[in-house]
Amino acid sequence: MSKLIAIGCDHGGFELKGQISELLTELGFEVVDCGCFSNASVDYPDIAKTLCEKITGGECKKGILICGTGIGMSIAANKINGIRCAHCTDTFSAQMAAEHNNANVIALGARITGSELAKCIVKSWLNADFLGGRHAERVNKIMALEK
Ligand code: RB5
Repeated sequence: MSKLIAIGCDHGGFELKGQISELLTELGFEVVDCGCFSNASVDYPDIAKTLCEKITGGECKKGILICGTGIGMSIAANKINGIRCAHCTDTFSAQMAAEHNNANVIALGARITGSELAKCIVKSWLNADFLGGRHAERVNKIMALEK
């Protein structure tokens, strides 16, 4: 069974999206590309919405958003009910985002984080599992804030 994962970027993250997509394919994922599809300028909230709807609609369990800094994408994604997006610039945070926060989306900044570190961040997040327990209680409290 193929593992679906969504990826999306704005113009600032277009090149890194290609590199991360290649990694995901190597890791055995089927990549659902939510755009953008060129270096032409686009608005990152539009891409964040498209990707997050793949998650909330059940098509994909996880997604990766890339913009210049990762900040705009993470702010936009976290406005959407059901999304827990972690803006990651290091591998430890990426691991914790999975283990403690059950982040279903991560945001990367292509103008901040080099492609090799970005790949390590993605692997750290994907290789870690949510630990549940007291962390589940806290994540439930986060989700309750949406109501
Ligand atoms: C686009 O220039 C830039 O603002 C965007 O990629 C991102 O960094 C926003 O947070």
